[in-house]
Amino acid sequence: MIISTEEISTINDDLASKQPKQIIKYALEKFDNIAISFSGAEDVVLIDLALKAGKNIQVFSLDTGRLHPETYAFIETVRKHYNIDIELISPKTEDLEPFVKEKGLFSFYEDGHQQCCGVRKIKPLRRRLTTAQAWITGQRKDQSPGTRQSIDVFELDSGFTGIDEQLYKFNPLANWSSEDVWNYIKMFDVPFNPLHQKGFISIGCEPCTRAVLPNQHEREGRWWWENEGGKECGLHASNIISKS
Ligand code: ADX
Ligand code: SF4
Repeated sequence: MIISTEEISTINDDLASKQPKQIIKYALEKFDNIAISFSGAEDVVLIDLALKAGKNIQVFSLDTGRLHPETYAFIETVRKHYNIDIELISPKTEDLEPFVKEKGLFSFYEDGHQQCCGVRKIKPLRRRLTTAQAWITGQRKDQSPGTRQSIDVFELDSGFTGIDEQLYKFNPLANWSSEDVWNYIKMFDVPFNPLHQKGFISIGCEPCTRAVLPNQHEREGRWWWENEGGKECGLHASNIISKS
């Protein structure tokens, strides 16, 4: 399905004022082949909402091999709680082994996270997305003042190619705040990653995520040794490519 730029903009304008549940329902009805990208953090609400929309859902997580034990356990909790499949996408051995042989296990502290994220996240994501028409992410504007302020609820993903060449992306939580997400989690008894009880807000890979202090922004717990501003690993490259 190819959707024109004008139509994308019209759909986005229409969805922008809708609640996440309505946005997800629309997304699942519009595309047969659409997958939720679940990081193992508070984006679990996407799964809860999608199941309430009453549709079969595809869910995948990028298993970088470096997630916290708590996150692996949580992915399993979610799988059992909702009785759903969660597809774990791993890096290909032929990509990972030469990289680790050359650079070791912690090269990101020395020369930045881009190369490791490229091997462990972006390439596997690219592979997964070539089989999809569209994907659904848990990105929110309030997650990163530097890079996520302009995300749309519905957009063309210019960073990846889907099964129809063009790939579409829904960010149903774009206009929700962290507080909205947590109110939802508490109100509907949604299971959550126990790391959130230990001061973690934004959760990525274990070596690249740390708890934050009161009033620190959640993004300060990610790749904290690098400069502010560019803290995107490439999953959402279009935030930087097309919105900067
Ligand atoms: S990241 O680009 O900095 O790592 P972030 O942790 O904020 O992303 O998560 C934003 C959204 O990206 C998540 O809600 C999810 O849709 C997707 N995402 C991030 N990490 C993963 C992962 N390991 N597996 C699947 N999706 C992910
Ligand atoms: Fe590697 Fe860190 Fe990126 Fe995870 S977040 S893929 S460990 S650089």
